[in-house]
Amino acid sequence: MTTVDLPLLPLGRGSDPLSERGVECPGDLPAASDPDLVARARAAKEKLGERVFVLGHHYQRDEVIQFADVTGDSFKLARDAAARPDAEYIVFCGVHFMAESADILTGPEQKVVLPDLAAGCSMADMARLAQVEKAWEALAAAGVQDQVVPVTYMNSSADIKAFCGRNGGVVCTSSNAEVALEWAMAQKGPDTKILFLPDQHLGRNTAVLELGIGLDECVVWNPFKPNGGLSAEELANARMILWKGHCSVHGRFSADVIDDLRARVSDLNVLVHPECQHEVVLKADFVGSTEYIINKIEAAAPGTSWAIGTELNLVQRLAKAHPDKNIMFLDRNVCYCSTMNRIDLPHLVWALESLVEGVVVNRIEVDPKTEAEALVALQRMLDLPGRTSRD
Ligand code: 13P
Ligand code: SF4
Repeated sequence: MTTVDLPLLPLGRGSDPLSERGVECPGDLPAASDPDLVARARAAKEKLGERVFVLGHHYQRDEVIQFADVTGDSFKLARDAAARPDAEYIVFCGVHFMAESADILTGPEQKVVLPDLAAGCSMADMARLAQVEKAWEALAAAGVQDQVVPVTYMNSSADIKAFCGRNGGVVCTSSNAEVALEWAMAQKGPDTKILFLPDQHLGRNTAVLELGIGLDECVVWNPFKPNGGLSAEELANARMILWKGHCSVHGRFSADVIDDLRARVSDLNVLVHPECQHEVVLKADFVGSTEYIINKIEAAAPGTSWAIGTELNLVQRLAKAHPDKNIMFLDRNVCYCSTMNRIDLPHLVWALESLVEGVVVNRIEVDPKTEAEALVALQRMLDLPGRTSRD
């Protein structure tokens, strides 16, 4: 098979980018209409018992999340995966970069399975290793590389995490971006600069709102322009060099919808994820990771109104779980994360039943060198002080 290094590859690495979406699943994928899917998933899980550990990201569908042994945001799931060394199989209901991180954080004999290899992340695909290495060289040529600490959001491929590991950097998630940036800023003295990958919005929001860095000290590195589209002077003056990447789901929320809703709903609380654009975050009342969003709604008083800017599966689940609160979605249109949604009940049943038969399908395995270097950056993150953003 020839693999194509597409600039934007909304697929998990390792799947065939030339195949038609959804038909590359080898083996018998149960029909979505099969009325026994729930019973089949339950039976397969029961047969596997303690040998299998199913992790579910909060953006997963209800039909899948009901089978998760634990649910969480990326940070919590990374920690949970590392805490189950006894489980032979880790079935990751999430996206490719999360399954890679689970593989890195678990033992060599543990097998991580992603039920559908097409569950990738368009944001993670916006920073490719070759582009980042080219940027690193350009920073050296501009005479600033010695001052730069690379920080990558968890939502990146394992080879980008490895790049950060071998270049004195760290991984962060939306739960701990503030502490991770504080750590990075302390690494090279007062002139430290951070190269933040791949989400410009999380980088900008955290730097400006949590660390008090000026918006004018943040520049955007465009990998499709020579020298990132930045002059030597702009680089010299910058403290945050933000990679030009974004989340296609959170990037949709807009400030004018907030104005519109506030005009129509009295005492509205606006709660958004830090992957949203800066002007949206500025207009919000509360900002935090998916775990933070859930905790905020759980602690909210009955009768209060909330407009939530994050993935729709989670917002719908929160609305269902809290009928005493007025919960609405912040976008005018339906917007699920299409790649998170790739994991559906037929794929989960197929993955679990294959394990019962002793066949490991869709295993996610990071090569040993990448794994060792990525682990350095992930371990630096796990070793950060316990405080998470906006505790
Ligand atoms: P968290 O799980 O860190 O909140 O990130 C959200 C996200 O976009 C995951 O893909
Ligand atoms: Fe990637 Fe955004 Fe989907 Fe998360 S919600 S997996 S960042 S595209």
